[in-house]
Amino acid sequence: MQDALAFDHRHIWHPFTYRADQPTQLVTHGSGPYLHTAEGRRIFDAISSWWVNLHGHAHPEIAQAVAAQAARLEQVIFAGFTHEPALELIAGLQTILHPNFSRFFFSDNGSTAVEVALKMSLQYFHNLGEARDTFVAFRSAYHGDTFGAMSVSARGTFTAPFQRQLFQVSWLDDPDNTDAETLVSQLQEAVQTQRVAALIVEPLIMGSGGMRMYSADKLALLAEVAHMLGIHVIFDEVFTGFGRTGELFAHHHIRQLPDFLCLSKGLTGGFLPMGLTVTTEEIHAAFQGEKSRSFLHGHSFTANPMACATAIASLRLLTGEACTLQRRQLAQWLEAAKEMLEKTPGLHRVRRTGCVLAMEVGESTGYLGNTGPVIYDWCLAHDVLIRPLGNTIYLVPPYVSSEADIQRATAVIRAGMAASWQPGTTA
Ligand SMILES: Cc1ncc(COP(=O)(O)O)c(C=O)c1O
Repeated sequence: MQDALAFDHRHIWHPFTYRADQPTQLVTHGSGPYLHTAEGRRIFDAISSWWVNLHGHAHPEIAQAVAAQAARLEQVIFAGFTHEPALELIAGLQTILHPNFSRFFFSDNGSTAVEVALKMSLQYFHNLGEARDTFVAFRSAYHGDTFGAMSVSARGTFTAPFQRQLFQVSWLDDPDNTDAETLVSQLQEAVQTQRVAALIVEPLIMGSGGMRMYSADKLALLAEVAHMLGIHVIFDEVFTGFGRTGELFAHHHIRQLPDFLCLSKGLTGGFLPMGLTVTTEEIHAAFQGEKSRSFLHGHSFTANPMACATAIASLRLLTGEACTLQRRQLAQWLEAAKEMLEKTPGLHRVRRTGCVLAMEVGESTGYLGNTGPVIYDWCLAHDVLIRPLGNTIYLVPPYVSSEADIQRATAVIRAGMAASWQPGTTA
């Protein structure tokens, strides 16, 4: 095992990893909400491996679906060809999405799902002969790491080296600490002074920007005003989709519909990478008629049949009675955890939406805050995987987690705080 880790250290460039000395775990297999390491440890994956896993690791039904599909058709060009798994998946999604969502464009991941929505929105207006060249986004947004997605994401540590390559965007203050009237007037001002194509938001929970939670009323109001102002609305549900907010999709909490929906992560239950940009007949119609109006964009692995097979199996589990109950229970257990964590010295702004629980440790200092990583180390040493966003600690567990898993994670975080938090410290 030491050889494997030394090899990794020498050759692998891990994502979002800035500590050269960061210890790396060699994972041999997964089961339910646990990751098993070469050292024989069983680690509770309290963040669903970057929010992708819904039904636990190596779920037998999903594993079987991939294996069967791999033996039948592993991949086929998706231009001029189609296949049953893609059709079955979209038919399944249509049973849980609003009927207005009738057009589905596949890609590979969350960033590409966003990139496609941005490009479609711009090209929609281009095809109509209207010049629109910018977007409105929340100041602390995170929509991915490709250039378009980065452009509509928070400017700061992640984007500083690329600042000059990013396109200009109008910003709204973050909705968790700004009142609705201010947000509306910022949106109006942006649309009146810029040629805005769309408002893009992470609905209800802004994930990477610090698990900022905001009300369905604010979301509904912004979507309504955006439409009144004649711009598109993009809901990036890459994180919030597939039940994280308590409903299957965050937009199910409101009556307004976006023009574009970006899906990924939980789409395949966390088994294989896939992205989907979902839109309406009206948008699709603007791309018809002439070759020059078509959407000339695509990825090699578009609608990969194995990824579609995992998504079908995951969707079947997600909409089944067992998972519906699991999600309801998980939300209750997280609420009980919230009450415990609220009483923990050093933790504040403990908050929950659906199956996502978040809190701040000390004075938040953004992604490079120092206390979060100390708690990360402590939790990992006690077999609980969390991955704080700076000083924002959060739990986004797989739906198959048990009450005991949540209680243990809570106890470990509390013990970590007791061991490392000094009153008066500012992180
Ligand atoms: C809301 C949101 N959009 C987009 C992305 C990018 O997804 P991916 O990492 O699959 O490119 C993420 C990733 O965390 C996300 O949280």
